[in-house]
Amino acid sequence: MKTKEIREKFLNFFKNKDHLVLPSYSLIPQDDPTLLLIGAGMAPLKPYFTGEKKPPHPRVTTCQKCVRTPDIERVGKTARHATFFEMLGNFSFGDYFKEEAIQWAWELVTEVYHLPEKKLYVSVYQEDDEAYDIWHKIMGLPESKIFRLGKEDNFWEIGQGPCGPCSEIYYDLGFEFGCGRPDCQVGCDCDRFVEIWNLVFTQFNCDSGGSYLPLSQKNIDTGAGLERMAMALQNVPTFYEIDIIKPILDYFVRLTGVRYGENSREDISLRILTEHLRSLTFMVVDGIQPSNEGRGYVLRRMIRRAVRHGRLLGLEDLFLFEAVPMICEVMGDVYQELKEREDYIVKVVQLEEERFRETLEQGLTMLSTYLIDLQRDGEKELPGDVAFKLYDTFGFPLDLTREILEEKGLGVDEKGFKVQLELQRERARSAREKMDAGEAKANLEPFKDQRVEFIGFDTLETKSRIAAIYNGDVIVDKAEEGQEVTLILDKTPFYAESGGQVGDQGTITTESALVEIQDTKLGTYDLFLHRARVIRGEIYTGEKVKALVDSNKRGLICRNHTVTHLLHRALKEVLGEHVNQAGSLVAPQRLRFDFTHFASLSQDEVKKIEEIVNKHIWKNLKVDTQETTLQAARESGAMALFEGKYEDKVRMVSIDNYSLELCGGTHVKHTGDIGLFKILSESGIGTGLRRIEALSGPGAYHYLSEKEEILTRGSVALKTKEENFLPRLETLIQSYNEMVKENQNLRSKLASQKVDELLDKAVQVKGVPVLAAQVNVTEMEQLRSMADQLKDKMGSGVVVLGSVKGEKVLLVAAVTADLVKKGLHAGKIVGEAAKQTGGGGGGRPDMAQAGGKEKDKLPSALKQAAVMVEKLMV
Ligand code: ALA
Repeated sequence: MKTKEIREKFLNFFKNKDHLVLPSYSLIPQDDPTLLLIGAGMAPLKPYFTGEKKPPHPRVTTCQKCVRTPDIERVGKTARHATFFEMLGNFSFGDYFKEEAIQWAWELVTEVYHLPEKKLYVSVYQEDDEAYDIWHKIMGLPESKIFRLGKEDNFWEIGQGPCGPCSEIYYDLGFEFGCGRPDCQVGCDCDRFVEIWNLVFTQFNCDSGGSYLPLSQKNIDTGAGLERMAMALQNVPTFYEIDIIKPILDYFVRLTGVRYGENSREDISLRILTEHLRSLTFMVVDGIQPSNEGRGYVLRRMIRRAVRHGRLLGLEDLFLFEAVPMICEVMGDVYQELKEREDYIVKVVQLEEERFRETLEQGLTMLSTYLIDLQRDGEKELPGDVAFKLYDTFGFPLDLTREILEEKGLGVDEKGFKVQLELQRERARSAREKMDAGEAKANLEPFKDQRVEFIGFDTLETKSRIAAIYNGDVIVDKAEEGQEVTLILDKTPFYAESGGQVGDQGTITTESALVEIQDTKLGTYDLFLHRARVIRGEIYTGEKVKALVDSNKRGLICRNHTVTHLLHRALKEVLGEHVNQAGSLVAPQRLRFDFTHFASLSQDEVKKIEEIVNKHIWKNLKVDTQETTLQAARESGAMALFEGKYEDKVRMVSIDNYSLELCGGTHVKHTGDIGLFKILSESGIGTGLRRIEALSGPGAYHYLSEKEEILTRGSVALKTKEENFLPRLETLIQSYNEMVKENQNLRSKLASQKVDELLDKAVQVKGVPVLAAQVNVTEMEQLRSMADQLKDKMGSGVVVLGSVKGEKVLLVAAVTADLVKKGLHAGKIVGEAAKQTGGGGGGRPDMAQAGGKEKDKLPSALKQAAVMVEKLMV
C-alpha cells in the first residue's frame, strides 16, 4: 500500500466516524512559546485539550508535519529514527475516550490496513488496568500480547501541556531485524518491534511547575507515524525503503556513486542525507531561515550536518540545494506549498550551503591538527575552547564537532564549551549594558503614579500642566531662558518615539515663555519625556501651558509611517510571504524599512514594489485605527510584527482591505495624503536581512525635482533638448573615445621623432657613445620605454634620461649588452646620478631607475652620468 493511500485511508476512516479532517498546521507553533517546533499531531491543538479554546468540532483528525530533534544523533544509525515525519492522528476533545480509541485503532490496523494480527503487539501503562481490560476482555487479545510498561514508555507528555497514560501498538518486523537477544521483546530498544501507533488518554495538564492537574474533560490524542506504518504495510525493514523515501536515498546513491549496503559508515551518511533533506526542505517552506538561534539554529544544524555527510561521501561541490526539487516532486501533491515555493527553498538552502562551504574546509583543517595532537598525547577529549572556536569562527554546531570526534573514538569537553559560550554571552551583555549606562537615565520613581494622557492621535494642540522638570537627573522647580531640561506634562499631544517612529517636536508656551520641544521619548512608568529648551522667559512646575506639536513635521511622519505599511504589503506581494518587518525608522525626512529576505532585490523588483505602493497611494484608500484585544487582532489576520511585544490591548491599523497591522504609530487618514513614494536604495544589513530607504510626499517630490534639475542643466550644457540628452551624450562619449585613441597615436609618433632627435646628442666618452638628456615625460614607464628605444637604435652605448615630475626627479639608465660585458653598470650609473638630486636608486646592469628630490639639480646629475661612465671604463 502506497503512503498516499495509507494517509487517505486513515483520514477517511475517521471522517466516517464523524471526525473533522483538518489540514496540517505549520511547523512553526503559533502562540506557544513553550515549543520550538511542532513535533506531534496534538501540539497545535493544545488549547482544545485544555478547554482554553472551543474546537471547531469535538472530533478531529489530521496528518501533521512534525520535526523532532532530540534523537537527531540516532538518525541514520537506526532503521527508524527521523527528525521529520508525518503523524496521523485522531483526537477527541472531551468526547469519546479509551474504549473507542482502542477499538477504532484496532479496526483500522487489522481490517482496513490488513496487518496480520500475529505480528501485532500492544503495551499499556503499568497501572492502567482499564486499558489492559479493554485490550484483553473486549478486543480479545491474549495476555501474551499485552505488555505493561513504565512511565518512561507509556506515559506521554510534551513538556507543559495536556498529557496522560498511553497504549501503543507495535509491529514485529521479524526476529532477524532485532538485536537477537533471547529476551528481546516489546519495549526493547532495537529495530525489531516498531511502534506504529500511540494512543494517549489525555486526562492531565502538566503546568509550568511540573505538577499534573486533572483536566476537566477527558480527551484522546493518538499518533501513528505514517512512515512507520508504511514500513509495516510495505513490508520493508527500514524507514529508508518505503515508497516516498527510497527515491531520495537512490538519488544520493547515484550522485555519490557509493554502493548502499556495503559499508556501514557510508550507509549512515547516505541515510542522514536522505532524512535531513526532507526535514530541512519542510522547515524552509514553512518560513524558517537558518540562524544562530531557536528554530533557525535547528535548521542550520540540519543543513550543515547534511553538507558534511555529503562531503564524507566525496561530494566536494555544492550539491544539497540541487536535491531540494526532488522532495518537492515526491511530496508536492500532498503539500502544495512545496511546489509553489520550490525556487525559494532552493535559494535559502543554497545560500546556507555556500556560507558553510566557505568555512568548512578551514574548520576541518584546524580540527584535524588538533586531532593529531590529541592522539599523540593520548588525550580522549577535545578541549572546550577549541570546540567553541570551531563553533564561533567556523560555524560548526557542537553536535557536528562531537560527531566528527566520535568517528575517531574521541569526545568533547562539553562543559568547557558551555563555559566559553557563557563567557561570550557575558561579554556581549556587558557591552550592551555599558551602552545603556552611557545615556544615564534619570530616576523617574517619584512620578511613577503620575497619570499621563496621550491625546496626540486626535489632536496636535492642548492645554496642559507641567508635572515635573528635570535638569539632567535632578528634579527642579523652574527652568529659565537658555536651559535645556526634560519636562513631564499631565496631558500631551507629543508622540514619544516607539515602534520606529521618531518622537514629536514642537513648542510649549505660556503667556511669557516659549519652549522648544526637540524630541519626545518614553521613559519608565510610561512617562512621556519631552526634551525641551527654554527660548524665552521662565517656566515653573505646576504651571499651565499650551503644548503644540509641529504639524508640518508630524504630517511628514504620518505619511512616512503609513507608507511603510504599504511597502510591507508590496514586499510580500512581490517577494513572497516570508518577508517580515525586522525594524524601521519613520522620521519626517526619510524612512527606512528592514525586512527578512535572502537575496538582494533586482531592479525590476524594486521598480515593481515602488509601483505597487504608488498605485495604492493613488487609490486613496481609507486608513482606520481600532483598539482591540491581541486575540481579536490575531484572528483577523493582522500582521503582528514583534511577537510577544504587545500588551493585551492593541491598536490595529487597517488600510481598506489591503493591509492590517498591529501598530501604535500615527498615520494619515487616506493613502492619497502620502502623495508619492520613491525608493532610494536597497541593501543588505546582515544574514537574510535587507534594508530599503525611501522618501514620500514632499521629500519624494523634491528628490525627483533635483534629478530633473540635473537633467535640465545637463541638457543646457550639451546644447540639446532634454529628450535628446541621452543620444547626444552617447555620441559625445563615442567621439571622445575616438579622440583619446587618436591622441595616443599622435603621442607615440611624436615620441619616436623625439628619440631620433635625441640620438644626435650622444657624445663619446672613452670611445663609448653616451647619451644623457632631459626629456619631457611624467611617467617612469614612458621614460623606461624611451630609454629602451634609444638603446636599440644606438646598437652600442649608454643612455641616461631624466625628467621632472612635479617636484620630483625621475631617472633611468640603460646599457647595451656589449658594454655590460666591459664592466658598465646601469644601476651604478643611475645611482650616482640620483645622489646629485638628493635621491637614490639602482637596479640591473642593463637597465635601472632612480628618483630624486631636487629638480634643479637634474642637469648636473645628467653630467655626472658621463663621469660615472668614464670611471667605470677604466
Ligand atoms: N501525541 C502522541 C505522540 O506524539 C500521540 O506520540
